[in-house]
Order: sequence, then structure tokens, then C-alpha cells
Amino acid sequence: MSEWLGAERVHHEVCGSTNDEAIALARSGVRHGTVVTADAQRSGRGRSDHTWHSPPGENLYMSCVLRPELEARAVPPITLAAGLGVVETVNSYGVGASLKWPNDVLVGRKKLSGILTEMGSRANRTDYVIVGIGVNLNTLTFPAELADIATSVRLEGGEVVDRAEFVDRLLARLQPWFDRFFDGGVPAIAGEWVANANIGRQRLSTQIGGRRVEGVAAGLEPDGALLITDDLGVDHRVVAGDVELIE
Ligand code: BTN
Repeated sequence: MSEWLGAERVHHEVCGSTNDEAIALARSGVRHGTVVTADAQRSGRGRSDHTWHSPPGENLYMSCVLRPELEARAVPPITLAAGLGVVETVNSYGVGASLKWPNDVLVGRKKLSGILTEMGSRANRTDYVIVGIGVNLNTLTFPAELADIATSVRLEGGEVVDRAEFVDRLLARLQPWFDRFFDGGVPAIAGEWVANANIGRQRLSTQIGGRRVEGVAAGLEPDGALLITDDLGVDHRVVAGDVELIE
């Protein structure tokens, strides 16, 4: 099957955010699979209004414009499919990374990569989906506030990562995961996702309806919700928000 992801590419030396560039391109009508990259971002964004550390020339800042035939409510778990492509790619560099619901790629407890999915829709019809991916590749020294919670492929795997080569490897791994997700939804990717997410071993806490829930990650639901089993054996569905790893 021909490659559709990255068949059209746009690169910036510097931009505000590759997600913002991708949104503008999507609104102007670019094709499914267009990929935007940058050497640096001035205002890289993460979930929950966090900034994404985006120094020049070191790391991957990439956003994919997708136009799936999916209802808007079926789109958010695409982040899980993207995570699989990222974890496979970084692990091909000798890194032992795993997934944390919904959008983190971690080594141990440290963040190696994050995914920010944004979309445009009318009624329940999806116009475009932007999957923005940041991967810390070559950073050796993080700002003080990130030093204990972030890591890079270089720090974990030892080798200097060629960014162009990394983009090619990543696109080659992302496309089949996106295709599987478009064809079969979460059930088509859940087994691999669970296998890469320390399910059954990760102890997590989160807020559900204003109440703190703590327990062990138990699996993925067909709609992409995370199941947490608390210490009384009760299952809780996490559909939105953040989960925290507990010591
Ligand atoms: C997160 O972990 O909260 C998500 C981080 C996503 C960062 C990437 S870098 C490329 C793209 N452009 C952005 O502004 N954000 C995403």
C-alpha cells in the first residue's frame, strides 16, 4: 500500500507551534497525511495549557494533518494509536519506553514524548485531526523544572539521533497504527497498547467526578477509556483528564 503519511511535508526552521501551523494548513485544505515539522518552536504546547520545551535543533516537533472518516466522538483515542508508533520508534533506538494513558511515552517515570491531538469538526462530522508529537531526542540538559521529570533518547540510548532519520522511522511506524485505528477503532489496537503500557503493574491516581480514585491500571475500554481497579476491586472508567503515576 502506498505511503500516505508524509507524502506532503512542510518544514519550518522555527515556528510558534507545529500544531498551529498544521491547523492553518488543514483549514486551507491540505491533503490527508500532510506532515509539518520544525527545528524549533517558540510556543510549543502540551495538554492542559502546558508549554512544551522546544529548543532548536535537538528534538522532534511534528504535527500530522489527518482527515479520517470518523465521527468526532470517535477521534480522541487516535492519540493511543500515535503512542504505539512513537514507542516502537524510540525503542528501535534501544530505549525501554512504555505508554501512559492517554498521551505520554515514558522511560521509567520520566517523560520522553508527548502527544497533543486537536481537531476541527462541524456537528459530529470530523473536518481535520491534528496529531502533534514531541519527542526529546538529543537534549542532554533540561531546564531545572524538567530535570527530574524529562528524559531524551540520547540520555537513555546513548546515541546521537539524526532527526531526519528519526522522522522517516516514525512515519513508517505511525502509518500502520493509524490505518488500523481508522479501520477497527480502539479494539484493533488495544492489545498492543496494553502490552506496551505496564497494564496490571502501573499504580495510578486520578480525579473522577471530583473524587480521587487510586488503583491499578486494568485495561482499555472499546471507546479508549482507561480502566482503573481500586483496592476494593471496583473498576473505574477514566474518560478524560490526567492520571498520575504513584510511587
Ligand atoms: C503533552 O505531553 O502534553 C503533549 C506535548 C505535545 C508537544 C508537541 S511538539 C509538536 C506539536 N506542537 C506543539 O505545539 N505541541 C505538539
